[in-house]
Amino acid sequence: MDHNQLQTYYSGKKALITGGLGFIGSNLAIKLVTLGAEVTIVDVLWPDHGGNLFNIEPVKKDAQVNICDVRDECAMRTLVKGKDFIFHLAGQCSHVLGQSDPYPDIDINIHGTAIIMEAVKKNAPEAVTVYSSTRGVYGSVDKLPVNEETPTDPKGLYELSNLTAEKLIKFYGDVHGLKVVNLRLSNIYGERSQMLHSKFGVVNWFIRLAMMDETITVFGDGKIMRDFLYIDDCVNAFLRTGASGTAYGETFNVGNDQHTTILELVNVILKVVGSGKSRFTPFSKERAAQEPGDFYPDISKIRQAVSWEPLISLEDGLLRTTEYYRRYQKEYW
Ligand SMILES: NC(=O)c1ccc[n+]([C@@H]2O[C@H](COP(=O)([O-])OP(=O)(O)OC[C@H]3O[C@@H](n4cnc5c(N)ncnc54)[C@H](O)[C@@H]3O)[C@@H](O)[C@H]2O)c1
Repeated sequence: MDHNQLQTYYSGKKALITGGLGFIGSNLAIKLVTLGAEVTIVDVLWPDHGGNLFNIEPVKKDAQVNICDVRDECAMRTLVKGKDFIFHLAGQCSHVLGQSDPYPDIDINIHGTAIIMEAVKKNAPEAVTVYSSTRGVYGSVDKLPVNEETPTDPKGLYELSNLTAEKLIKFYGDVHGLKVVNLRLSNIYGERSQMLHSKFGVVNWFIRLAMMDETITVFGDGKIMRDFLYIDDCVNAFLRTGASGTAYGETFNVGNDQHTTILELVNVILKVVGSGKSRFTPFSKERAAQEPGDFYPDISKIRQAVSWEPLISLEDGLLRTTEYYRRYQKEYW
């Protein structure tokens, strides 16, 4: 599906985006408005999470914003009414926080998802729900690349809560006949991610450090393999799977099959930003225990189902991201 086909599909459709003031949700909101959709956002806008009203600046007159918690059952029942799409991105998304306090993950990611799915079942049974899960549900893996048949073995509360939310969503698809899609996202980077702390995503944090001419710490020898996906490619995966009957009921990896090491990533960031430095440091015992090791996904399933694939190279994506934060630094620092 190219831009015109997506426009034909989404134009005039009504979409609800939970977590729509956050990184991925706001980029999705902007794209949907561009395609002619009517967008409603739900976001709790807690400080320290990724929500930022500036994120939707380009569409602030077009998107309707509701500052509320997805666990507000009454609000959610009202908000899903009449919607064609529910893009569910609200969540506690810090792996680090989940290690010390399990309750936000359980409360928001599991209970919150149940509230949304009940609301959809009762008040929007024809709507398509697309959920943003994480590649972390796989845990440590023996075989690369990782396809969707790989057994799940989450290593933290955050990952466990995402897997449970996925299963809840699949249950509503299988048992109640709702149209649902689960996306297991890799490391997404790009414009509109919060830049205040390192708890949510390593790429954006490294960009900040480089922009501030500070030192990026690389654990171990930096040879751990990961994949990094630019935000526009990620948004495109939400749009394509949401628009395709062949995707309903399915779970897809959404990542980049062009994998790279952490050290390579850091070197590209230093080159693109033009400042900053790096240094190696040994893994602490705690970090080593949480480190799932090499990971990169097999994306042939989503490629085959909806002809999706990453289009933006790492260097190009990092350039675009850096330019954005140079221009709007005061809104994010
Ligand atoms: N960014 C990534 O690399 C990545 C990778 C895997 C999965 N994910 C998942 O994708 C989703 C979106 O991630 P993101 O990077 O955009 O994060 P983000 O923190 O930028 O956005 C999440 C938004 O959800 C909102 N929110 C949190 N709890 C809420 C609640 N109870 N009610 C309403 N709103 C609430 C926050 O205020 C925030 O604006 C998350 O569920 C995350 O777990 C992200």
